[in-house]
Amino acid sequence: MHLLTTSRFTDRSELDRFFQTVDLMQKPHIKGVDPVYQARGKVMAIVKDEASTRTRVSFEVAMKKLGGDVTLLDMDKKSSVAKGETLEDTIRTVSEYVDVLVLRHSEKGAVERAAAKSRVPVINAGDGDGEHPTQALLDVYTMHKEFDGLDGVNIMLVGDLKHSRTVHSLLPLLALYQGVQVQLVSPPDLMLLPEHYGLLRKAGIEPAASSDLKKRISLDPPDVVYVVREQKERRDPGACKRFDYPVMGEEEMGLLPATAIVMHPLPRCGELPVTLDTDPRCAIWRQVRNGMYVRMALLYNLFNNNTFLPSK
Ligand code: NCD
Repeated sequence: MHLLTTSRFTDRSELDRFFQTVDLMQKPHIKGVDPVYQARGKVMAIVKDEASTRTRVSFEVAMKKLGGDVTLLDMDKKSSVAKGETLEDTIRTVSEYVDVLVLRHSEKGAVERAAAKSRVPVINAGDGDGEHPTQALLDVYTMHKEFDGLDGVNIMLVGDLKHSRTVHSLLPLLALYQGVQVQLVSPPDLMLLPEHYGLLRKAGIEPAASSDLKKRISLDPPDVVYVVREQKERRDPGACKRFDYPVMGEEEMGLLPATAIVMHPLPRCGELPVTLDTDPRCAIWRQVRNGMYVRMALLYNLFNNNTFLPSK
């Protein structure tokens, strides 16, 4: 009933059907289905103890576009957490009032603890350096749309892969496609952990890894460059080193095929300069917009058939 990890998607056809629902959200009248009132009378709670712009606003707008309402609880400021209330009691309380609960938390695994206490479906909107399933769904939906399917697509993941929850959630979804190639570019200390490599190897994907972005692009030009920021807040400050952090700049862009795209979950902090936004290969704002439709589709499914996945 909850959506905590993308590992719950094990069937490619399930994902394909989900993407059809996302398409439907963009042209409801053409297909003769009007999603506008699916969430009428329903309330979503967005509960968070960490910063959020896109995830929070797009969930809120998605719920409102389906005719529902939203309440926001910032756990770090004015909630009873400041008086010492546990996450579990906070979640149980909120779940007595609402129909769906979106949780962003700074601790990996907090979403599982919350889901165990919640009376309503919980959506993981990012848990520490754990996962961020709805971001990965919108990322894969974007690739699926830009390339008319993902089979055989060559994807280069660039930056702090060790701490990026969006990357962690992306891997099980990529593993559902045939012939996907994955390349990794990261400073050695910020490379994927063995547990994450395992998600790819299980699907027979053996990623090439390097710390040199230009070299990697020249050697094996990718279809998708997926850049993430350096997640300084997730590292032990005592262990902070100076890294040569990869930047997807003008020169790197010049090495990319004309048909490639560049993606980023945002926020960006210099690793993808704003001057590249006018290049049609820069897909970040298309990604942002798709995020709203993906979240509408999840809620549409939930209020239609009690699950985030489409019915067969
Ligand atoms: C990401 C997040 O919060 O995990 N952003 C997002 O939700 N769009 C990426 C990040 O923080 O780097």
